[in-house]
Amino acid sequence: MADIILDPNKIPSHIAIILDGNGRWAKKRLLPRVMGHKKGAFNLKDITIYCDKLNIKYLTVFCFSTENWKRPIDEVNFLMNEPLKYYKKYKKALFSSNIKIRAIGRRDRLSKEFINCLEELEENTKNHTGITLTLCIDYGSQYEITEAVRKIAHDVKNGIINPDDINEATINKNLYTNDLPPLDLLIRTSGEYRISNYLLWQLAYSELYFTDVYWPDFNELELKKAILSFQARNRRFGGLKNENK
Ligand code: IPE
Ligand code: MG
Repeated sequence: MADIILDPNKIPSHIAIILDGNGRWAKKRLLPRVMGHKKGAFNLKDITIYCDKLNIKYLTVFCFSTENWKRPIDEVNFLMNEPLKYYKKYKKALFSSNIKIRAIGRRDRLSKEFINCLEELEENTKNHTGITLTLCIDYGSQYEITEAVRKIAHDVKNGIINPDDINEATINKNLYTNDLPPLDLLIRTSGEYRISNYLLWQLAYSELYFTDVYWPDFNELELKKAILSFQARNRRFGGLKNENK
């Protein structure tokens, strides 16, 4: 396939990815499912570095959902322990990189060790000026919105805000993503056409891109295909483009 040339003036600033297909990638190779997760984790490193090179400012990825706890215990344990091993091995490299890493999602069901690693990682990369990688871990959009509503209800009860002043910005401010810019492009790998409780509020005007490629195989070329598709879209945000007025 001929190389894809992207328009440098139309690079999306914020991309989100539903990382899917690790298990099927492994199954196809007669490997245990966890080998797919391993390969998927290393792919996330490669794609993050590549996004940074393309000047994408924010990458937000769905690593573990509030529903993924329903998986067999061995797989859940792997997903909760393996990242800690990678963290120990690569933390020096992460601290001396220019990537800013943060995690969003529930923190009340993660182990103390996991939370400590996340906090250390956030603290040591917070001043980095390259791409911001947001890891969604024990994340569910409906839970996030429910929490936001609860917080706002408390603010009303405590007289901090007037119910008549609640608007979209009030909701935005109370979501985990309050310091992220609008989402330009959502990518889902592995041929599934679902949103799966991911960033439901934030996706209001995002472009959607679905590919059959399994996450461990989603490489630089596949990312460029997704961005090329994004660049061909006519984003109107509910209005009309100038030429149609
Ligand atoms: C995505 O791959 C990774 C996680 C949700 C942790 P899957 O594990 O969902 O892979 P499939 O869908 O079974 O192929
Ligand atoms: Mg899946």
